[in-house]
This record gives sequence, structure tokens and C-alpha cells, in this order.
Amino acid sequence: MTATPARYDTIGVGYTTYRHPDPRIEAQIWAAVGDAARIVNVGAGTGSYERGDRHMVAVEPSAVMIGQRDAKVPVVRACAESLPFPDLSFDVALALMTLHHWQDLRRGLAELRRVARRQVVFTFDPAMHDSLWVFTEYVPAALGFADHSPIDLVLDALETDQVEIVPTPADCSDGFASAYWRRPEHYLSPHARGNISAFARLDPRLVEPGMAQLERDLASGVWRERHADLLARETIDAGLRLVIGGPTAQESRGPDDGPAVAARTLGSGGPGN
Ligand SMILES: C[S@@+](CC[C@H](N)C(=O)[O-])C[C@H]1O[C@@H](n2cnc3c(N)ncnc32)[C@H](O)[C@@H]1O
Repeated sequence: MTATPARYDTIGVGYTTYRHPDPRIEAQIWAAVGDAARIVNVGAGTGSYERGDRHMVAVEPSAVMIGQRDAKVPVVRACAESLPFPDLSFDVALALMTLHHWQDLRRGLAELRRVARRQVVFTFDPAMHDSLWVFTEYVPAALGFADHSPIDLVLDALETDQVEIVPTPADCSDGFASAYWRRPEHYLSPHARGNISAFARLDPRLVEPGMAQLERDLASGVWRERHADLLARETIDAGLRLVIGGPTAQESRGPDDGPAVAARTLGSGGPGN
């Protein structure tokens, strides 16, 4: 087992308390999956965004994450880089908020292509992730966290140009790094931060001074003044992306059978755009 899953054996404790699947993100993921019958969910964690109405198998290396799953979908303990399935065993391979943890991203993505005809990957643009205010203004030590998993590499490895912007809603229920962009007080909770790997991987001494400053800025009104533009918004593009490899859901079904998954171009603005 690699070092990364061991990290989730530590930071994955309490994951289901703070990381509830968000219904709007779930709808976008499943629109891309379409009516595929056989699905593998790689880096599945506790089972967020899974559905029990398909033939689904989860792949997850961390025992702590597996221990928080219900029995809806069977799970195999393994890593993306070496999937224990024959070629093209599945219609769709899902990889949701997991790529930035893989030891060998290209190898893992090649495995997704080997075992499934289509790939649906929910990930983020590291540069846009880095421009989130909580990192630039309060915890600069977190910058560069996911530089090794740029979107261009994902597109290249999956040989696709299908990428959708996934907006981050102001009340996002999945507590990943950008979820609290309009609810700054949530970042003050060590438990919420403990389920955000950009924070959880850092020595607390690199995080706590920034959080103390954020607390002061919230009390004094400085944060609200500085981010008045955000307070007026319901969603932002914080860099979340859905990358789709292989034929679209429509192409998989045939030309006249339901809506297509739109191919969109990658947004270029920072969070708040
Ligand atoms: C942020 S969690 C996401 C879990 C789930 N997909 C979700 O959306 O909630 C990242 C997951 O990736 C897993 N992971 C880390 N390294 C991995 C690897 N090499 N192969 C597969 N999964 C890995 C972790 O153990 C963890 O469960």
C-alpha cells in the first residue's frame, strides 16, 4: 500500500460529517454518466455520489474510508494505479475528488481507460484552487498543493477535450476546500479543515496564525468589506471541473436518445468569476 492512502487513514476520520454529496454537483456528475449500467468508482472514499441502482463497484485503498461506507455498493481495497479488473469490464470509470492524491496520475488515468470505455472525472484546476481567498490571504503555505495534477495533464492522459465547469454553490454541502467561499466562519473549525486535504496535510503551525487573523477580520468586519462582491453571489467558478473521456453519454446511447453532455471550454477566471 502506498503512502497516500495512509494519509487518508489519518485525515479521513469523520469524513462523512463534513463531506455530504452536494445535490447540484451530483446531478452534473450523473448527467455525464448517463444510463451506463456498469460503473467503477475509483478513489471512492466513503461512497459520496454513488448510487445503488446500477451495477457499481467501489475501489478505495484506505481502511478508515472503507469503514465509513454503507453496504449499498461493494468495495475492493486497491489503488487507481493497479486496478484489479480485466480490460473494459465497465461502461464508466468514475474518479471523484481523488486524482490529486494518486501516486502516479498518468498510470491511474491509463488504468481508468483500460477498465472502462468512458471516464467521468470530478477534479479541480490547481491554479484556480490556489487563487481562493482563504489560501492567498490567510494560509499561503497551502499554495501549490495540487500542482502535480493540472487539468491539461488529465485531458492529455484521457485524450479528450470534454471539460465542464462545475460551479461551487454558496451553500455547498460537500466540504472541500472551496465549499466555504461565502461562509468564512466554517474555515475556523479545525474539524472542517481536517477534512480538507490542502489544510490537513500541513503542520498546524502553518495554518493557525492565518485562522486567528481570519477570526479577527471577521469580528472587525474587514473580511466582509474586502469580499463584499462575494456576498452578493450564489455560485462561483472556484476551479471545479468535470472531465469526460471517451464517447459522450449521448454517443454511448445513440444519436436520438436523450440530451448530450455539452462539451465546454475551460474557464480562465479565478474564483469569483
Ligand atoms: C477527498 S477523498 C474523495 C473520496 C470520494 N471520491 C468523494 O468524492 O468523497 C480522496 C480519496 O482518494 C483515495 N486515494 C488516495 N490515493 C489513492 C490512489 N492511489 N488510488 C485510489 N484512491 C486513492 C483516498 O484514500 C480518499 O478516499
